[in-house]
Amino acid sequence: MRIGVPRENRRRERRVAITPTGVAALTAASHQVSVEVGAGLRAGFDDADYREAGATIDQRAGVIGTDGVIVQINGPTAEDLAEREWRHVGADHLLVAQHDPLWRPKRAVALAETGATSLSLELVPRITRAQTMDVLSSTATVAGYEAVLLAASRLPRMLPLMMTAAGTVPPSRFVVLGAGVAGLQAIATARRLGAVVEGFDIRPAAMEQIRSLGAKAIELDLEVSAAESSSGYAVEQTDAQIQRQHELLTPHIAEADAVITTASVPGAASPELVTTAMVSAMRPGSVIVDMAAERGGNCRLTEADEEVVHDGVVILGPTDLASRAATTASQMFSNNILALLRHLAPDGEPVLDFDDEIIAGTVLTHGGAIRHAGVLALVETAATDPGAGIRTGSPDGLGASHQAPTAQLAETENSP
Ligand code: NAI
Repeated sequence: MRIGVPRENRRRERRVAITPTGVAALTAASHQVSVEVGAGLRAGFDDADYREAGATIDQRAGVIGTDGVIVQINGPTAEDLAEREWRHVGADHLLVAQHDPLWRPKRAVALAETGATSLSLELVPRITRAQTMDVLSSTATVAGYEAVLLAASRLPRMLPLMMTAAGTVPPSRFVVLGAGVAGLQAIATARRLGAVVEGFDIRPAAMEQIRSLGAKAIELDLEVSAAESSSGYAVEQTDAQIQRQHELLTPHIAEADAVITTASVPGAASPELVTTAMVSAMRPGSVIVDMAAERGGNCRLTEADEEVVHDGVVILGPTDLASRAATTASQMFSNNILALLRHLAPDGEPVLDFDDEIIAGTVLTHGGAIRHAGVLALVETAATDPGAGIRTGSPDGLGASHQAPTAQLAETENSP
């Protein structure tokens, strides 16, 4: 295969999709790899590293070319696809990236129009066989760790308990809301740094995992019977359930020095877990790191990539947490991509076996059409009822509907 690795052009993105080690593995398997000039610089890899690993270094247009597999972290936006470098993208291309189709289905329409086959990494089914290809888990692992370091660096206090000649310093108190991949990593990291940690999730299965990391699970008297779908994801809560959650979480949040929020429901806007009143109840100097900022945030006051101070409480909504450890995050992403490419092309050439659960679930567009049923449903709903916003759904397309914010309809995310 000819494999192209363009430089990421999204604002604040510092990762690269394939590292030099990944290139070496691909060239050893007789693939040709072409990397855009400077693609790995912000992740700690220079062009010489890539050349040594067997890649050719080229300008963007040459890397994208007229055929082959193009591998990226963030797939091309509709504006990118209209640019000169992408003009030859068509049926002979396979575009492997995070295309964010459940949140930005219009981008899937633009991809389909090119005629290219696109594989969207967020759609890789979360099954055991596909774990090595799961970029969401890799990204959330790095981001959960970075969220705690960010909170720790902004707190005006230290994290561990210390007994000194100047007296005993109590440990900081962290609360982590949402205990999926990012939340569990945040809990583990805060514990390692010596904080006292409480965790909460609406999925009952997550409570045991919180405890196993040495944190206290916040037990709320909530109606959680329908908190989890058959595929293991959270389902959206009703307004009454969320309201009850606010009431019960308030005393825990008020006592916290730092709150890390990671709650999400696939394809939907982030649930609001921390209200303005809850922020006001916190001590001045406390910090909230809202990991869900890109989907509207878990805290009412969050603004993506901005710092908000309310009653002395600092609220941060960084969307680039994985990029803050760009080398590690790129290594993990690259390994995930290699696993996917091996699965896609076991004998060197890509084979689109739609009977295979991983391929069938991950292919977004093919032959000029959107192939993924869930994304297609979102696009069709928007087309027939544009005033209604886009219905969002779970990755398997079977999930809940949600009145999405209008921002979701626009193709305006952190473009170059
Ligand atoms: P995940 O799907 O593994 O976990 C999300 C958790 O939230 C689930 O355990 C779910 O049960 C829980 N949840 C849903 N509704 C809830 C509610 N009302 N109350 C309490 N818990 C609730 O997701 P993952 O991979 O851990 O990612 C977490 C968030 O972090 C996502 O929003 C993701 O987009 C974001 N993220 C942000 C990054 C950044 O740079 N800011 C980087 C990576 C991920």
